[in-house]
Amino acid sequence: MDKLIYDLKNNNSLDDGDLKCLLETDMYDEELYKAADAVRRANYGDSVYIRGLIEFTNYCKNDCYYCGIRRSNNNVDRYRLSKEEILACCENGYILGYRTFVLQGGEAPYYTDERICDIVSGIHKLYPDCAITLSIGEKNYESYKSFFDAGAKRFLLRHETADDEHYKRLHPESMSLDNRKRCLFDLKDIGYQVGSGFMVGSPYQTTDNLVSDLRFLQELKPDMIGIGPYINHKDTPFAGEKNGTLELTLRLVAILRLMFPYALIPATTALGTISPNGRELGLKCGANVVMPNLSPVETRKKYDLYENKICTGEEAAECRGCLERRVTLAGYNIVTDIGDVKEHA
Ligand code: 5AD
Ligand code: FES
Repeated sequence: MDKLIYDLKNNNSLDDGDLKCLLETDMYDEELYKAADAVRRANYGDSVYIRGLIEFTNYCKNDCYYCGIRRSNNNVDRYRLSKEEILACCENGYILGYRTFVLQGGEAPYYTDERICDIVSGIHKLYPDCAITLSIGEKNYESYKSFFDAGAKRFLLRHETADDEHYKRLHPESMSLDNRKRCLFDLKDIGYQVGSGFMVGSPYQTTDNLVSDLRFLQELKPDMIGIGPYINHKDTPFAGEKNGTLELTLRLVAILRLMFPYALIPATTALGTISPNGRELGLKCGANVVMPNLSPVETRKKYDLYENKICTGEEAAECRGCLERRVTLAGYNIVTDIGDVKEHA
Protein backbone atom coordinates (compact mmCIF):
# COMPACT_ATOMS: atom_id res chain seq x y z
CA MET A 1 0.00 0.00 0.00
CA ASP A 2 1.24 3.47 -0.75
CA LYS A 3 2.97 5.13 2.18
CA LEU A 4 0.63 8.13 2.15
CA ILE A 5 -2.43 5.96 2.58
CA TYR A 6 -0.65 3.78 5.12
CA ASP A 7 0.22 6.82 7.24
CA LEU A 8 -3.26 8.26 6.94
CA LYS A 9 -4.77 5.00 8.09
CA ASN A 10 -2.41 3.96 10.83
CA ASN A 11 -1.59 7.01 12.83
CA ASN A 12 -3.10 10.00 11.14
CA SER A 13 0.44 11.27 10.86
CA LEU A 14 0.23 12.90 7.46
CA ASP A 15 1.45 16.46 7.45
CA ASP A 16 -0.41 19.19 5.60
CA GLY A 17 1.78 18.89 2.52
CA ASP A 18 1.09 15.17 2.16
CA LEU A 19 -2.63 15.70 2.73
CA LYS A 20 -2.66 18.34 0.01
CA CYS A 21 -0.92 15.95 -2.29
CA LEU A 22 -3.55 13.26 -1.64
CA LEU A 23 -6.35 15.75 -2.24
CA GLU A 24 -4.97 17.05 -5.50
CA THR A 25 -4.18 13.87 -7.38
CA ASP A 26 -6.37 11.08 -8.71
CA MET A 27 -3.38 8.75 -8.67
CA TYR A 28 -4.30 7.07 -5.39
CA ASP A 29 -8.07 7.02 -5.80
CA GLU A 30 -8.57 3.30 -6.34
CA GLU A 31 -6.26 2.47 -3.46
CA LEU A 32 -7.94 5.04 -1.22
CA TYR A 33 -11.39 3.63 -1.94
CA LYS A 34 -10.24 0.08 -1.22
CA ALA A 35 -8.52 1.05 2.02
CA ALA A 36 -11.57 3.07 3.12
CA ASP A 37 -13.96 0.20 2.40
CA ALA A 38 -11.74 -2.18 4.36
CA VAL A 39 -11.76 0.17 7.35
CA ARG A 40 -15.54 0.66 7.22
CA ARG A 41 -16.06 -3.10 7.04
CA ALA A 42 -13.68 -3.66 9.98
CA ASN A 43 -15.68 -1.18 12.08
CA TYR A 44 -19.23 -1.46 10.80
CA GLY A 45 -19.33 -4.59 8.62
CA ASP A 46 -21.65 -4.09 5.66
CA SER A 47 -24.22 -2.19 7.73
CA VAL A 48 -25.78 0.99 6.40
CA TYR A 49 -27.82 2.98 8.90
CA ILE A 50 -30.91 4.79 7.75
CA ARG A 51 -32.12 8.09 9.14
CA GLY A 52 -35.52 9.50 8.27
CA LEU A 53 -35.13 13.12 7.27
CA ILE A 54 -38.00 15.48 8.03
CA GLU A 55 -37.49 18.90 6.45
CA PHE A 56 -39.95 20.71 8.66
CA THR A 57 -39.55 24.30 7.47
CA ASN A 58 -37.86 26.25 4.72
CA TYR A 59 -38.20 29.59 6.52
CA CYS A 60 -34.76 30.92 7.37
CA LYS A 61 -33.49 34.14 8.86
CA ASN A 62 -30.02 33.59 7.43
CA ASP A 63 -28.77 34.61 4.06
CA CYS A 64 -25.92 32.23 3.24
CA TYR A 65 -24.77 32.97 -0.28
CA TYR A 66 -24.88 29.34 -1.42
CA CYS A 67 -28.26 28.29 -0.12
CA GLY A 68 -31.49 28.21 -2.10
CA ILE A 69 -33.74 28.84 0.90
CA ARG A 70 -31.80 31.94 2.03
CA ARG A 71 -33.90 34.77 3.40
CA SER A 72 -33.44 37.02 0.35
CA ASN A 73 -34.74 34.47 -2.11
CA ASN A 74 -38.28 35.70 -2.77
CA ASN A 75 -39.03 32.86 -5.16
CA VAL A 76 -39.30 30.35 -2.33
CA ASP A 77 -42.77 29.17 -1.41
CA ARG A 78 -42.29 29.07 2.36
CA TYR A 79 -43.86 26.42 4.60
CA ARG A 80 -43.87 25.23 8.18
CA LEU A 81 -44.98 21.81 9.36
CA SER A 82 -47.10 21.70 12.50
CA LYS A 83 -46.30 19.38 15.39
CA GLU A 84 -49.09 17.09 14.18
CA GLU A 85 -47.67 16.97 10.66
CA ILE A 86 -44.21 16.20 12.01
CA LEU A 87 -45.63 13.43 14.21
CA ALA A 88 -47.42 12.01 11.17
CA CYS A 89 -44.07 11.83 9.35
CA CYS A 90 -42.60 9.99 12.34
CA GLU A 91 -45.51 7.55 12.44
CA ASN A 92 -45.08 6.80 8.77
CA GLY A 93 -41.32 6.48 9.27
CA TYR A 94 -41.67 4.19 12.26
CA ILE A 95 -43.83 1.80 10.26
CA LEU A 96 -41.20 1.83 7.51
CA GLY A 97 -38.52 0.80 10.02
CA TYR A 98 -36.86 4.08 10.86
CA ARG A 99 -35.46 4.38 14.38
CA THR A 100 -33.85 7.77 13.91
CA PHE A 101 -35.67 10.95 12.96
CA VAL A 102 -33.71 13.95 11.77
CA LEU A 103 -35.59 17.21 12.08
CA GLN A 104 -33.98 19.66 9.74
CA GLY A 105 -35.04 23.21 8.98
CA GLY A 106 -33.91 26.72 8.33
CA GLU A 107 -33.31 29.03 11.27
CA ALA A 108 -36.94 30.00 11.66
CA PRO A 109 -37.90 32.25 14.60
CA TYR A 110 -41.43 30.79 14.63
CA TYR A 111 -39.93 27.64 16.09
CA THR A 112 -39.11 29.04 19.51
CA ASP A 113 -37.24 26.90 22.02
CA GLU A 114 -40.60 26.06 23.60
CA ARG A 115 -42.04 24.86 20.31
CA ILE A 116 -38.94 22.80 19.50
CA CYS A 117 -38.98 21.24 22.97
CA ASP A 118 -42.66 20.47 22.63
CA ILE A 119 -42.10 18.74 19.28
CA VAL A 120 -39.05 16.84 20.53
CA SER A 121 -40.71 15.65 23.72
CA GLY A 122 -43.83 14.73 21.73
CA ILE A 123 -41.77 12.46 19.47
CA HIS A 124 -39.77 11.12 22.41
CA LYS A 125 -42.92 10.17 24.30
CA LEU A 126 -44.45 8.31 21.37
CA TYR A 127 -41.21 6.68 20.16
CA PRO A 128 -38.92 6.18 23.17
CA ASP A 129 -36.91 3.61 21.20
CA CYS A 130 -35.97 6.16 18.53
CA ALA A 131 -33.14 8.68 18.35
CA ILE A 132 -34.08 12.28 17.65
CA THR A 133 -31.57 14.37 15.74
CA LEU A 134 -31.90 18.12 15.34
CA SER A 135 -30.43 20.13 12.49
CA ILE A 136 -31.73 23.61 13.17
CA GLY A 137 -28.65 25.79 13.15
CA GLU A 138 -26.98 28.13 15.60
CA LYS A 139 -28.48 28.61 19.08
CA ASN A 140 -27.15 29.48 22.51
CA TYR A 141 -26.02 26.97 25.11
CA GLU A 142 -29.24 27.12 27.12
CA SER A 143 -31.40 26.44 24.07
CA TYR A 144 -29.27 23.47 23.05
CA LYS A 145 -29.45 22.20 26.62
CA SER A 146 -33.25 22.47 26.71
CA PHE A 147 -33.60 20.47 23.46
CA PHE A 148 -31.27 17.83 24.90
CA ASP A 149 -33.30 17.60 28.08
CA ALA A 150 -36.46 17.28 25.99
CA GLY A 151 -35.01 14.17 24.34
CA ALA A 152 -32.87 15.17 21.35
CA LYS A 153 -29.54 13.42 21.71
CA ARG A 154 -27.96 14.16 18.35
CA PHE A 155 -27.31 17.39 16.49
CA LEU A 156 -26.08 18.11 12.96
CA LEU A 157 -24.40 21.42 12.23
CA ARG A 158 -21.93 21.57 9.40
CA HIS A 159 -19.10 24.01 9.94
CA GLU A 160 -19.20 24.57 6.12
CA THR A 161 -15.56 25.73 5.99
CA ALA A 162 -12.97 25.99 8.74
CA ASP A 163 -11.12 28.88 7.15
CA ASP A 164 -12.14 32.29 8.43
CA GLU A 165 -11.59 34.15 5.15
CA HIS A 166 -13.42 31.48 3.18
CA TYR A 167 -16.25 31.51 5.71
CA LYS A 168 -16.68 35.23 5.13
CA ARG A 169 -16.92 34.70 1.39
CA LEU A 170 -19.76 32.21 1.84
CA HIS A 171 -21.75 34.04 4.51
CA PRO A 172 -22.98 37.56 5.24
CA GLU A 173 -21.31 39.56 7.98
CA SER A 174 -23.96 38.64 10.53
CA MET A 175 -22.50 35.12 10.66
CA SER A 176 -19.10 34.02 11.90
CA LEU A 177 -16.98 30.90 11.98
CA ASP A 178 -16.22 31.59 15.63
CA ASN A 179 -19.87 31.35 16.57
CA ARG A 180 -20.27 28.21 14.48
CA LYS A 181 -17.39 26.59 16.32
CA ARG A 182 -18.75 27.78 19.66
CA CYS A 183 -22.03 26.05 18.85
CA LEU A 184 -20.31 22.79 17.96
CA PHE A 185 -18.24 22.72 21.16
CA ASP A 186 -21.30 23.66 23.24
CA LEU A 187 -23.19 20.76 21.70
CA LYS A 188 -20.36 18.36 22.56
CA ASP A 189 -20.15 19.75 26.06
CA ILE A 190 -23.86 19.14 26.64
CA GLY A 191 -23.44 15.53 25.58
CA TYR A 192 -24.94 15.43 22.11
CA GLN A 193 -23.63 13.07 19.46
CA VAL A 194 -22.46 15.78 17.10
CA GLY A 195 -22.30 15.84 13.33
CA SER A 196 -20.36 18.41 11.37
CA GLY A 197 -19.06 18.67 7.84
CA PHE A 198 -18.61 20.88 4.84
CA MET A 199 -19.42 21.37 1.19
CA VAL A 200 -16.92 20.17 -1.38
CA GLY A 201 -16.13 22.57 -4.18
CA SER A 202 -17.93 25.58 -2.74
CA PRO A 203 -17.01 28.86 -4.45
CA TYR A 204 -13.46 30.08 -3.68
CA GLN A 205 -12.55 26.85 -1.88
CA THR A 206 -8.86 25.95 -2.08
CA THR A 207 -7.05 22.73 -1.21
CA ASP A 208 -5.61 24.53 1.81
CA ASN A 209 -9.17 25.22 2.97
CA LEU A 210 -9.93 21.51 2.74
CA VAL A 211 -6.86 20.70 4.80
CA SER A 212 -8.17 23.17 7.42
CA ASP A 213 -11.53 21.38 7.33
CA LEU A 214 -9.87 18.05 8.06
CA ARG A 215 -7.74 19.56 10.83
CA PHE A 216 -10.77 21.20 12.40
CA LEU A 217 -12.60 17.88 12.37
CA GLN A 218 -9.62 16.25 14.08
CA GLU A 219 -9.94 18.84 16.80
CA LEU A 220 -13.73 18.52 17.13
CA LYS A 221 -13.84 14.71 16.88
CA PRO A 222 -17.44 14.63 15.70
CA ASP A 223 -19.48 11.44 15.77
CA MET A 224 -20.93 12.12 12.33
CA ILE A 225 -19.36 13.82 9.34
CA GLY A 226 -21.54 14.91 6.43
CA ILE A 227 -20.04 16.18 3.22
CA GLY A 228 -21.52 16.71 -0.20
CA PRO A 229 -20.65 18.58 -3.36
CA TYR A 230 -21.64 22.22 -3.55
CA ILE A 231 -24.46 22.48 -6.09
CA ASN A 232 -25.43 25.72 -7.68
CA HIS A 233 -28.77 27.44 -7.17
CA LYS A 234 -29.88 30.06 -9.65
CA ASP A 235 -31.59 32.33 -7.09
CA THR A 236 -28.45 32.98 -5.04
CA PRO A 237 -25.51 35.36 -5.40
CA PHE A 238 -23.49 32.32 -6.53
CA ALA A 239 -25.73 31.65 -9.54
CA GLY A 240 -23.53 30.41 -12.37
CA GLU A 241 -20.74 29.13 -10.14
CA LYS A 242 -19.35 25.67 -10.83
CA ASN A 243 -20.61 22.65 -8.90
CA GLY A 244 -18.32 20.54 -6.74
CA THR A 245 -17.23 17.31 -8.38
CA LEU A 246 -18.10 13.69 -7.73
CA GLU A 247 -14.44 12.79 -7.92
CA LEU A 248 -13.22 15.13 -5.18
CA THR A 249 -16.20 14.35 -2.94
CA LEU A 250 -15.52 10.59 -3.15
CA ARG A 251 -11.84 11.12 -2.50
CA LEU A 252 -12.75 13.11 0.61
CA VAL A 253 -15.26 10.52 1.81
CA ALA A 254 -12.50 7.90 1.59
CA ILE A 255 -9.99 10.15 3.37
CA LEU A 256 -12.53 10.87 6.12
CA ARG A 257 -13.17 7.16 6.64
CA LEU A 258 -9.45 6.54 7.01
CA MET A 259 -8.96 9.48 9.38
CA PHE A 260 -12.14 8.78 11.40
CA PRO A 261 -12.63 5.00 11.34
CA TYR A 262 -15.43 5.14 13.90
CA ALA A 263 -17.45 7.94 12.30
CA LEU A 264 -20.96 7.86 10.89
CA ILE A 265 -20.57 9.23 7.38
CA PRO A 266 -23.64 9.67 5.17
CA ALA A 267 -23.77 9.15 1.44
CA THR A 268 -25.58 12.44 0.98
CA THR A 269 -28.47 13.54 -1.19
CA ALA A 270 -26.18 16.10 -2.82
CA LEU A 271 -23.87 13.26 -3.88
CA GLY A 272 -26.86 11.47 -5.39
CA THR A 273 -27.87 14.67 -7.13
CA ILE A 274 -24.63 15.31 -9.03
CA SER A 275 -24.41 11.70 -10.17
CA PRO A 276 -27.18 9.11 -10.59
CA ASN A 277 -25.24 6.52 -8.58
CA GLY A 278 -23.34 9.00 -6.41
CA ARG A 279 -24.68 7.64 -3.13
CA GLU A 280 -23.78 4.06 -4.03
CA LEU A 281 -20.27 5.20 -4.91
CA GLY A 282 -20.14 7.07 -1.59
CA LEU A 283 -20.97 3.84 0.25
CA LYS A 284 -18.18 2.04 -1.58
CA CYS A 285 -15.74 4.77 -0.53
CA GLY A 286 -16.48 4.45 3.18
CA ALA A 287 -19.89 6.05 3.83
CA ASN A 288 -22.20 4.07 6.13
CA VAL A 289 -25.37 6.14 6.51
CA VAL A 290 -28.19 7.16 4.17
CA MET A 291 -30.88 9.69 4.96
CA PRO A 292 -34.00 9.10 2.91
CA ASN A 293 -36.65 11.77 2.92
CA LEU A 294 -39.70 11.41 5.17
CA SER A 295 -41.12 14.87 4.52
CA PRO A 296 -44.61 15.15 3.01
CA VAL A 297 -44.38 15.03 -0.79
CA GLU A 298 -46.19 18.40 -1.05
CA THR A 299 -43.35 20.22 0.68
CA ARG A 300 -40.33 18.42 -0.70
CA LYS A 301 -39.79 20.53 -3.77
CA LYS A 302 -39.93 23.61 -1.59
CA TYR A 303 -36.92 22.55 0.48
CA ASP A 304 -34.78 23.57 -2.40
CA LEU A 305 -31.24 24.07 -1.08
CA TYR A 306 -29.77 23.50 -4.54
CA GLU A 307 -30.97 22.67 -8.03
CA ASN A 308 -32.34 19.32 -9.19
CA LYS A 309 -32.38 17.79 -5.72
CA ILE A 310 -33.36 14.13 -5.97
CA CYS A 311 -36.17 12.30 -4.15
CA THR A 312 -38.57 15.24 -4.30
CA GLY A 313 -41.38 13.38 -6.07
CA GLU A 314 -41.43 10.12 -4.15
CA GLU A 315 -43.51 9.05 -1.19
CA ALA A 316 -41.57 8.03 1.92
CA ALA A 317 -42.24 4.35 1.26
CA GLU A 318 -40.96 4.63 -2.32
CA CYS A 319 -37.83 6.40 -1.15
CA ARG A 320 -37.22 3.73 1.45
CA GLY A 321 -37.67 0.92 -1.09
CA CYS A 322 -35.54 2.66 -3.68
CA LEU A 323 -32.68 3.13 -1.26
CA GLU A 324 -32.93 -0.41 0.02
CA ARG A 325 -32.46 -1.69 -3.54
CA ARG A 326 -29.59 0.70 -4.18
CA VAL A 327 -27.77 -0.20 -0.96
CA THR A 328 -28.17 -3.92 -1.60
CA LEU A 329 -26.95 -3.61 -5.18
CA ALA A 330 -23.90 -1.71 -3.96
CA GLY A 331 -23.08 -4.70 -1.72
CA TYR A 332 -24.26 -3.44 1.68
CA ASN A 333 -27.11 -4.05 4.03
CA ILE A 334 -29.63 -1.63 5.49
CA VAL A 335 -30.08 -2.00 9.24
CA THR A 336 -32.95 -0.47 11.10
CA ASP A 337 -31.52 -0.28 14.60
CA ILE A 338 -30.89 3.05 16.28
CA GLY A 339 -27.32 3.11 14.95
CA ASP A 340 -25.30 4.91 17.59
CA VAL A 341 -21.73 5.85 16.86
CA LYS A 342 -19.09 3.34 18.02
CA GLU A 343 -17.00 4.23 21.06
CA HIS A 344 -14.22 6.63 20.24
CA ALA A 345 -11.83 9.06 21.89
N1 5AD B 1 -25.13 22.89 -2.41
C1 5AD B 1 -24.79 21.85 -1.63
N2 5AD B 1 -25.09 21.80 -0.31
C2 5AD B 1 -25.74 22.84 0.20
N3 5AD B 1 -26.15 23.08 1.45
C3 5AD B 1 -26.78 24.28 1.47
N4 5AD B 1 -26.78 24.82 0.24
C4 5AD B 1 -26.14 23.96 -0.56
C5 5AD B 1 -25.79 23.95 -1.93
N5 5AD B 1 -26.11 24.97 -2.73
C6 5AD B 1 -25.82 22.20 2.56
C7 5AD B 1 -25.08 22.94 3.68
C8 5AD B 1 -26.00 22.79 4.86
C9 5AD B 1 -26.80 21.55 4.52
C10 5AD B 1 -28.12 21.45 5.22
O1 5AD B 1 -27.00 21.67 3.13
O2 5AD B 1 -23.83 22.31 3.92
O3 5AD B 1 -25.31 22.65 6.08
FE1 FES C 1 -35.55 8.60 -2.62
FE2 FES C 1 -34.54 6.87 -4.47
S1 FES C 1 -33.90 7.23 -2.46
S2 FES C 1 -36.36 8.01 -4.54
